[in-house]
Amino acid sequence: MSLMQDYLIIFLILSMVSSGLSTTTPSGYFNVIEYGAVGNGKTDDSQAFIKAWKAVCQVQTSRPILIIPAKKSFLLNPVTFSGPCKSFKIHVQVSGNIVAPNQKSAWNGKATNRWLAFSNVNGLTVSGQGHIDGRGSVWWPQPCLQNGQNCKAPTALTFYRCNNLRLNGLTHLNSPRVHIILTSCTGAIISNLRILAPETSPNTDGIDISGSKNVQIRNLNIGTGDDCIAIGGGSSNINITGVYCGPGHGISIGALGNGGYDVVEDVHVRNCTIKGTLTGVRIKTWQGGSGYARKISFQNIKFIAANSPIIIDQYYCPSRVNCQNHTSALKLSDISYTGISGTSASDKAIDLSCSQSAACTNIVLDRVYIKPAVQGRPVYASCFNAHGRATHTKPAVKCLLP
Ligand SMILES: *[C@@H]1O[C@H](CO)[C@@H](O)[C@H](O)[C@H]1NC(C)=O
Ligand SMILES: *[C@@H]1O[C@H](CO)[C@@H](O)[C@H](O)[C@H]1NC(C)=O
Ligand SMILES: *[C@@H]1O[C@H](CO)[C@@H](O)[C@H](O)[C@H]1NC(C)=O
Repeated sequence: MSLMQDYLIIFLILSMVSSGLSTTTPSGYFNVIEYGAVGNGKTDDSQAFIKAWKAVCQVQTSRPILIIPAKKSFLLNPVTFSGPCKSFKIHVQVSGNIVAPNQKSAWNGKATNRWLAFSNVNGLTVSGQGHIDGRGSVWWPQPCLQNGQNCKAPTALTFYRCNNLRLNGLTHLNSPRVHIILTSCTGAIISNLRILAPETSPNTDGIDISGSKNVQIRNLNIGTGDDCIAIGGGSSNINITGVYCGPGHGISIGALGNGGYDVVEDVHVRNCTIKGTLTGVRIKTWQGGSGYARKISFQNIKFIAANSPIIIDQYYCPSRVNCQNHTSALKLSDISYTGISGTSASDKAIDLSCSQSAACTNIVLDRVYIKPAVQGRPVYASCFNAHGRATHTKPAVKCLLP
């Protein structure tokens, strides 16, 4: 057979395949209004959303779209959009706004600490210009104690076991607790979000990731009362780039080790600006855990009056009770800070507090220049059991052991 005939056959096959797809499997559109949603911000639209979701999830078209139309506000009680779905790709187009109930009674009798959740949905895209407003202020007066029983305030949006997720364009406001949780997901691109809550709102992390891998986070603007982004145990291959963070508690890895064994690997934070936060880029572990966090890099980060811009804290113990020293710890290694600049609001600009039982190894600082936010203050670096090297770094990190 000639090359020409080969091409012809391939062309014929390709055109058959593509025309087959476009004629027999058109995309389906599922507008929540057609399923009874009102969108006046007062009527409970949860049942309508659940019906529309079931239709979308059960249809066998190639890329069904759930439409949440613009210029409307949909009040939803706690709902979980569950899969698995029949289609390999599902698009949720959020053009309108979604609001939480403005009293806690909506959660009464429901054993849930989630408001909106997607569970077991693969190939899910959630995108649009809409706002997701958790109306958290009714929850904030009682902060959630660390690991306490009263951590009842719900997370606004949870993705559980959603592989190949895309989340793009939305504005997330005033969650009662964490704004977005990604847990047990493989493959996610989270981009172009705004996540906003008051600086004083407790536990309102922007995005928490755990048990997930292959995640890209880019171009976010996050200002809340807690961590902008927190990476928890079981996470690997997480890239964070182009995040503006502040106010809040900065970008954190951890707290790790509280449940015992934790591993985090391959986290790369690049091209971020961190302003006015409680800490800048932080790795925190509880004492007594096991496992490791390694291959972590922070590159091209700019701090603007951040407290504790660079911090490793292996003595994490926020409640300050039962903070005894233990004989085990997570092992931290291969952590680099390169091309870092800006200002520190605290005098201790670089704090490498590694565990006494497990030294940090291969900690590398290169081209790190942190000035005091208030001119004339001293800034300094401090280390405990930290090993590695620092080059072109000011303040000098003479305490780093070879
Ligand atoms: C993260 O960045 C690294 C290095 O640039 C790259 O090898 C890796 O594929 C990226 N991972 C994701 C999930 O984008
Ligand atoms: C970070 O910014 C630099 C310079 O603007 C750019 O060349 C690089 O591609 C960016 N890196 C990422 C991972 O976005
Ligand atoms: C724990 O160990 C650190 C480092 O050796 C020491 O500074 C601290 O005082 C110890 N804390 C307690 C409660 O023993």
